[in-house]
Amino acid sequence: MTRKVKELENLAQIQQDALRALADVVDIEALEAWRVTHLGRSSAVMAVFSSMGGMDKELRPLMGKEANEVRQALEAALEEKRQALEAVALKQALETEKLDITLPGRPVARGRLHPLTQVLRHINQIFSDMGFQVFPSPEVETDDYNFTYLNMPPYHPARDMWDTFYTKKEGILLRTHTSPGQIHLMRARAPEPIRAILPGATMRYEQLSTRSEIEFVQVEVLVIGKQVSFAEMKGTLDDFARCLFGDDARTRLRPSHFPFTEPSAELDVGCFVCDGVGCPVCKETGWLEILGCGMVHPVVLEYGGYDPAIYSGFAAGMGVDRSTLMRYRIDDIRHFRNNDVRFLRQF
Ligand code: DAH
Repeated sequence: MTRKVKELENLAQIQQDALRALADVVDIEALEAWRVTHLGRSSAVMAVFSSMGGMDKELRPLMGKEANEVRQALEAALEEKRQALEAVALKQALETEKLDITLPGRPVARGRLHPLTQVLRHINQIFSDMGFQVFPSPEVETDDYNFTYLNMPPYHPARDMWDTFYTKKEGILLRTHTSPGQIHLMRARAPEPIRAILPGATMRYEQLSTRSEIEFVQVEVLVIGKQVSFAEMKGTLDDFARCLFGDDARTRLRPSHFPFTEPSAELDVGCFVCDGVGCPVCKETGWLEILGCGMVHPVVLEYGGYDPAIYSGFAAGMGVDRSTLMRYRIDDIRHFRNNDVRFLRQF
């Protein structure tokens, strides 16, 4: 009996020691070490099991039962501790890895439309509202389309005003204006009436200055029909100028000369800077030129496939860069293609 009591006391001690050690465990790794020490193969409880072979027969069942209870108690304590530690770890993770979803996001750098694109779209919109169609046309042209079909035969001195960049291929060049698009469109449409604009890039061999670039954007206007008049041209272009520059914009039509129109004119708007008094921007004239225009020359109509005895038409060509300069009072045309965001951000 004393022996039995001693063995049982021993077991109770084992349990007590193990539980005391468990109280000091503070993390999962230490818990695993505890498990190996107190429940592993060479732990004290397990030693009790393996020592049972040498015990008294009547003692064995009781010892076995008691040892089992101790082991189960330790296993339950282990499980409870594991859950407690995991709960603490989770709580800590939730606190330290917290996402503040109320923080504003990092701003995405947004682009914007280039001022030339904005004005070009406005121009397209104005003409669309007046019933014009918008057409693309080639930027690389033949000498014929850029000059000959526009009533400037080879060696004609008028060609000098539109000097350009030539490719190595004979007769292939970069167009100096959108006017060749007139011929493309007429040839595609004749003898149907036309009411269209042709916007696009144009190139010229020029000395760079605050007002001239080697690349710029033009919009060509073309109307062909049986009774198209100069008065219709004037009314259309006046309306257009007021839509683009505001209801109080003043306009004037000034006689001019272009080989591809007859008669020819230029449309001026009252200078925005000095309001017509005269200043350096308008070269003291009080007026700013915005486009060239005129009645399509019979030679051009013929090249386009229209009989000039039956059809007439008007055409106009405007520089979008110049209009944009005026509209935003930009002092140097070269800003447009420098790609400097400090400039571009302002529009
Ligand atoms: N193509 C001319 C230029 O670039 C502008 C122009 C003038 C176009 C008169 C026209 C026009 O259609 O009728 O200088």
